[in-house]
Amino acid sequence: PWNEARGAEIIAEHDKLEGATLVILHAMQEAFGYVPEPAIPMIASALSLSRAEVHGVFTFYHDFRHEPAGRHVLKICRAEACQAAGGDALAARAEAKLGIAIGNTTPDARVTLEPIYCLGLCATAPSAMLDGRVVGRLDEQRLDALVAEAQR
Ligand code: FES
Repeated sequence: PWNEARGAEIIAEHDKLEGATLVILHAMQEAFGYVPEPAIPMIASALSLSRAEVHGVFTFYHDFRHEPAGRHVLKICRAEACQAAGGDALAARAEAKLGIAIGNTTPDARVTLEPIYCLGLCATAPSAMLDGRVVGRLDEQRLDALVAEAQR
């Protein structure tokens, strides 16, 4: 859970670095599992930036979570090689199976569905990653199995 004192510490540890906004956002996500909303104005004031500037960086990168992740995180590759290999249909299938759009967590907090932009597995596209384990050569059946595994 969000802890303001810990958030302030994280900012103080990194606020002199080049590219501090990104570094701090990453450190926040590492510490809390997502970037808590109250962190944004704190980062802005520490770095003498506007909230809009920090928020812009936060939303530009797809890596940052806006809310805590579910128990399992399923990332579907949305980059070019995987799209060309049918990744769009698989992403839509995962959304339908889980009943959520990419970028969200199921209401039972079990599964977070996220996009990822190339897993380096283009040769075996389409690819996905479940809790850090990469899986290539996805088809409908393999995707369904992956979704079922994530829901357990
Ligand atoms: Fe999906 Fe490279 S584009 S793994």
